Amino acid sequence: MDTTTAIARFDEVRADTERLAAPLSPEDQTVQSMPDASPTKWHRAHVTWFFETFVLAENEPGFAPFQDKYWFLFNSYYEQVGPRYARPMRGVISRPGAYEVGDYRRNVDDRVRDLLDRVDEGTFAKLAPTIELGFHHEQQHQELLLMDIKHVLSLNPLQPTYAGLPAAGDGTDRLGWVDVDGGLVEIGSEGGGFCFDNELPRHQQWLEPYRLADRLITNGEWLEFIADGGYRRPELWLSDGWARVTAEGWEAPFYWRQADGEWFEHTLHGTSPLDPGLPVCHLSHYEADAYATWAGKRLPTEAEWEHAARTYEVAGNLADRDSFHPRAAGPATGGLRQLFGDCWEWTSSAYLPYPGFHPAAGAIGEYNGKFMSSQMVLRGGCALTPPGHTRASYRNFFPPGARWPVTGLRLADDGRRA
Ligand SMILES: [Fe+2]
Repeated sequence: MDTTTAIARFDEVRADTERLAAPLSPEDQTVQSMPDASPTKWHRAHVTWFFETFVLAENEPGFAPFQDKYWFLFNSYYEQVGPRYARPMRGVISRPGAYEVGDYRRNVDDRVRDLLDRVDEGTFAKLAPTIELGFHHEQQHQELLLMDIKHVLSLNPLQPTYAGLPAAGDGTDRLGWVDVDGGLVEIGSEGGGFCFDNELPRHQQWLEPYRLADRLITNGEWLEFIADGGYRRPELWLSDGWARVTAEGWEAPFYWRQADGEWFEHTLHGTSPLDPGLPVCHLSHYEADAYATWAGKRLPTEAEWEHAARTYEVAGNLADRDSFHPRAAGPATGGLRQLFGDCWEWTSSAYLPYPGFHPAAGAIGEYNGKFMSSQMVLRGGCALTPPGHTRASYRNFFPPGARWPVTGLRLADDGRRA
């Protein structure tokens, strides 16, 4: 990457965020509907703060923050940068407003472009990895922005829409299976492009023979699980999962609503009757695991998923399709369908460091490593993931009870030894 490419990429990523926020009013952009989700304008400001903190502060001659208090407001979780405003309280911040956040963005955009225009080659070489991390960080927040506004809009009885067009299910075919030999395989980023630190080091892993379902589980299949008492049978559930089912009264995926005996689903393009041919989404890890138990199968490990996915093109129903919702699998191909896009796929793997992993020194080392506790790995990407942001080695992670990300389920099974 040279400076011209970096400026072009910077402009593109920054414009994508503003394009996603454009359909949302300043009032939409201010609401925080639960502690886990952040207001749209906070996302827009925080990704700006990231460039200001990690790129400008150390490299801009005579650096001063755009606003001292923004430094405090828009730090997410970087202890080494300093104190920050409480995450669950982000929704009470009415000022800066959405337009003032736009001013902040434009100011930092100009300063980053100026810096890249004037920087010498040696400094740019040192700076480039952080700039590139900033691009991928902003893309992660583009997905979070959509996930979070989906939750905000779900609580509004006017059933507002964000954008996107529904795509109908296509009559689900029977679930097929793809056999994989296993053996001694390599997992982790192969290099040759950007990856997060948690995808490294590449390392060996032993896999017994296994099988993966050739598509995601559908709403129609999930209805069978419900009809068979899926949410009422403790024997199907992990203990922590059953505790959530009983404490929170779970009886269907997160955005399903029942009215007059019919199921409806909230999506970013409105609330519609549940389509049995579309992938089931917004499941916790616990629900995915209970379904797999009910079906007499299991979830794949992250190594099984990555090893099987490595030869497939990274393409699918990602956010550039503008449907903003999982689509049907389409006709059987004999291979794995829906690997990239549609729904993030829960794995049975705890989110842990790969052998030999060491976070970077300084505040930037807090990016991933410190979250390697009490979370499960998801693979593949979803209909809200920006194109170019996912790959076979990408490790997403959420706590097992999380239901507001676009999460789905692919079954796995043990294979036959040759
Ligand atoms: Fe962030």
